[in-house]
Amino acid sequence: MLVARDLRKDYPMNGETVHALRGASLTVEPGEYVALVGPSGSGKSTLLQIVGGIDTPTAGTVEILGTRLETLSDRELTRLRLTRLGFVFQRFHLLPVLTARENVELPMAEAGVKGADRRARARRLLDYVGLGHREGHRATQLSGGEMQRVAIARALANRPAVLLADEPTGELDAATGQEILDLFRRLNTDGTTLLVVTHDERLAAQAGRTVHMLDGRIVSEAAAP
Ligand SMILES: Nc1ncnc2c1ncn2[C@@H]1O[C@H](COP(=O)(O)OP(=O)(O)OP(=O)(O)O)[C@@H](O)[C@H]1O
Ligand SMILES: [Mg+2]
Repeated sequence: MLVARDLRKDYPMNGETVHALRGASLTVEPGEYVALVGPSGSGKSTLLQIVGGIDTPTAGTVEILGTRLETLSDRELTRLRLTRLGFVFQRFHLLPVLTARENVELPMAEAGVKGADRRARARRLLDYVGLGHREGHRATQLSGGEMQRVAIARALANRPAVLLADEPTGELDAATGQEILDLFRRLNTDGTTLLVVTHDERLAAQAGRTVHMLDGRIVSEAAAP
């Protein structure tokens, strides 16, 4: 499903080099729910952005469903991101002027799904995340937890092979964060593969596997009890 091999990422900074990744390798199998944890600055977001094709590594390779990302043109990579990967961010990244339904429709519109089909699917997805009654609200008229659920529905719009999330509960209070955790658990039960960066111990506890990062490397892996 997802294979990252010996990833390195260097950032030049004021004449010095920051080694954000120092040889990180990770495999995620279909249907897995993997939590990626580690101290601030250990390289978690960098790793997630590289496996998601948002950023490129200094060295190493990433394979999604058998396709090596570095072999793709910009256009092919954009297409793969749009149709095979879903992203969920700490700060939701919804378009504020659009309604919940329009936000969910956007990736489908970009992928060429017709109006009536994408409206119907956006409604189904909003129902799935428990927000059918909020489809006409603009992003600015939603609570934080609701915004994150819309963002998750949007990430699922084109039926991604894997959902990547970076601190999806980081901006939410405990109770609202729990709703997102429940949703992730349900998504995984329903067959979605998840790779989630988190500081949230409850999330790490419910994932099937926890991968620990330290100083740009994967240092250990533990299956959940
Ligand atoms: N664009 C950049 N330019 C220079 N250095 C960067 C850049 N992005 C990240 N870094 C550095 O790379 C290292 C890893 O950053 P990264 O954002 O991956 O950490 P993280 O594990 O996600 O941390 P956090 O838990 O705080 O989000 C850090 O030392 C950071 O300062
Ligand atoms: Mg981060």
